[in-house]
Amino acid sequence: MSDSSPALSEIPANLPRHVAIIMDGNGRWAERRGSPRFAGHKAGVEAVRNVVEICGELGIQALTLFAFSSENWRRPKKEVGLLLDLFITALEREVNKLHNNRVQLRVIGDIKAFPAKLQQRIHEAMQLTATNQGLILNIAANYGGKWDITQAMRKLAIRIAAGELPPDAVTEELITNELSMHDLPEPDLFIRTGGEQRISNFLIWQLAYSELYFTESLWPDFDRVEFIKALQSFSLRQRRFGQTGAQIVALEKDQRNRA
Ligand code: IPE
Ligand code: IPE
Ligand code: MG
Repeated sequence: MSDSSPALSEIPANLPRHVAIIMDGNGRWAERRGSPRFAGHKAGVEAVRNVVEICGELGIQALTLFAFSSENWRRPKKEVGLLLDLFITALEREVNKLHNNRVQLRVIGDIKAFPAKLQQRIHEAMQLTATNQGLILNIAANYGGKWDITQAMRKLAIRIAAGELPPDAVTEELITNELSMHDLPEPDLFIRTGGEQRISNFLIWQLAYSELYFTESLWPDFDRVEFIKALQSFSLRQRRFGQTGAQIVALEKDQRNRA
């Protein structure tokens, strides 16, 4: 732990089970230093390492990181190429350490659009870590929330067309079951760094009831202290899921009495 680590007592008791992060601000971080944008992406990998480590230490069940959106293909060809290369090298360098730390790595998104070498590295990493029981780390790559819902609908449409599924039987649960990460709790906490307050086609269905946290901190500056600030903010929220505040207080009291 670094000297700037907050005391353990500053880590709240009620932690999210699943944290989803839009890692934004790499380009601006580099530009402010007079460096090429790519330097920011490289520095961003370091920030990923830190947040994965702390989630593992805290026993958080799942962490989902937005690494490359379905819209990021619109960037200059050179930046896209460098980002894909960085993804390959990061996988090659980090996968053994992730494996040793019992991290289960999953990639969500339409990876068929990636170069063959990257697809191969992704498959190897997922296979190697598939049975690990530690943190579930989802990397969203060529991911879009609209893509996710579309691919789920396509699967259901096939079953409907085959006569296996009557249209009336389509429920929220059936749709959820075809989405990425359907076996995990939906993100309790959503974080976006870099100051923008938008979802940018990240998880849309799965964020329906997440607590949202936005910070000006640029992704390469997002360290342990910044992450714990987000956890503290989360711990102070009252999650009502449509009920009243008084109902939640009564429910919590009841749970305490039963414990
Ligand atoms: C996020 O940082 C990383 C990716 C989208 C791959 P950006 O590259 O969007 O950084 P800014 O927003 O331009 O600063
Ligand atoms: C969202 O960031 C995608 C990732 C962090 C991978 P962007 O920087 O691409 O989002 P917009 O374009 O500013 O909304
Ligand atoms: Mg950005």
